[in-house]
Amino acid sequence: MIEPALEDKLVEAAKEARMHALCAYSGFAVGAAIEDAEGKIWTGCNVENSTFGLTVCAERVAIWKALSEGVREFRSVAVVTDAPEPTPPCGACRQILWQFARDVPIVSATLEQKRKRYRLSEIFPEPFDF
Ligand code: THU
Repeated sequence: MIEPALEDKLVEAAKEARMHALCAYSGFAVGAAIEDAEGKIWTGCNVENSTFGLTVCAERVAIWKALSEGVREFRSVAVVTDAPEPTPPCGACRQILWQFARDVPIVSATLEQKRKRYRLSEIFPEPFDF
């Protein structure tokens, strides 16, 4: 789905972004990378907050960085965690990704190099559209 060399590059970028995670409450660090239509890679990490509810996921940090710089088209997404199995984006991030990146290919990777690949529509089959 994502060309192998690009997939490695995206996963590496997400892995580096993960190093900046602010995850004092969950201890679960997440890194994300999103490639825009021009091939530029935007990264994000999860940013937790003491209220818990105001925590923002890595995927949304990455896409908001790009959107706020004027980017409007995206080509691929990577998510990296240290879970035993690759973890897909949460439900809220799926909705945000659907709105701005449509049916984008996603790779979820672990630090142990396990990977899962899906298009957003496979894991978010009945999106809300308005
Ligand atoms: N988290 C993400 O950053 N992305 C996801 O797709 C799932 C969850 C973060 C939120 C919270 O900081 C921690 O992981 C545990 O849920």
